[in-house]
Amino acid sequence: MRPFFEIAEPECRLYNADVLAADMVAPESVDLIVTSPPYNVEVVYGTHKDNLSYAEYLEFCALWLQRCYLWLKPDGRFCLNIPLDKNRGGQQSVGADLTTLAKQIGFQYHSTIVWNEGNISRRTAWGSWLSASAPYVIAPVELIVVLYKHEWKKSSGTRQSDITQEEFIEWTNGLWTFNGESKKRVGHPAPFPLELPKRCIKLFSYVGDLVLDPFAGSGTTLLAAVMHNRRSIGIEIEPTYCELARERILEYLRTRQYALQIYEEREPYGELVSTTTENYRTAGEGVFPESSE
Ligand SMILES: C[S@@+](CC[C@H](N)C(=O)[O-])C[C@H]1O[C@@H](n2cnc3c(N)ncnc32)[C@H](O)[C@@H]1O
Repeated sequence: MRPFFEIAEPECRLYNADVLAADMVAPESVDLIVTSPPYNVEVVYGTHKDNLSYAEYLEFCALWLQRCYLWLKPDGRFCLNIPLDKNRGGQQSVGADLTTLAKQIGFQYHSTIVWNEGNISRRTAWGSWLSASAPYVIAPVELIVVLYKHEWKKSSGTRQSDITQEEFIEWTNGLWTFNGESKKRVGHPAPFPLELPKRCIKLFSYVGDLVLDPFAGSGTTLLAAVMHNRRSIGIEIEPTYCELARERILEYLRTRQYALQIYEEREPYGELVSTTTENYRTAGEGVFPESSE
């Protein structure tokens, strides 16, 4: 299958495909999966129906979790961003249930990061207001469940980490506090903020590792991977989100190229090494750095 778009350096490919049918990821090839699947909370995505019964939802999750397990290297890691629980359409312990499901499929459990979403406003339902009759309790947090395939200690990869001392100290504390992303700003109904995949990628992978997001959405994980020199593959079922992901990544590359040109113009001898800010071609389905000839 041809990618919806790809860039060559760092290698990044996005496929417009159903994760359950995708055949472009080689078994045991992925170092790190960072993903946020549909939560089954009636979000309007387009192709995907986000209003399954809870039993059907767990069946769907079992199928894609099995594929993720197959794709991971023996020392591969999995950062699974899911809700703690679900209130819409009946209370459910989604975090606990998906963690149990992943363990049944074969994943080993490492830890759970609690993401405290500063700007979330979920106080729409109080249940029985000021009464013990049936009040609702809602925690404004999500989880990032950290799993791995066989070995937690990484033995493959470049062994090159790019995390700073401050980041390591702060991020190994499993309570992460940063704002959620605006749907309107990104143009996707349920994006996560760049900070989430950035932290997972820098904390759990080496430079040059292969990162996969099987529910790529607006391409946030791919963007973080490109920014931090990891190779990446995304799978997304909805073509309009693939287009959005392409635009976001190209915009970043254009800006980076622009910054690079300014830097080069300031070189001591004033020599302009790069002569164009548009170093990536977007025609057709491929996006490769243009030849310097
Ligand atoms: C929670 S969103 C992911 C958002 C993403 N993290 C971002 O920052 O934009 C889940 C995504 O999964 C996609 N999706 C749903 N079912 C899918 C399937 N079977 N295969 C691939 N993608 C699917 C939806 O279209 C949606 O974009």
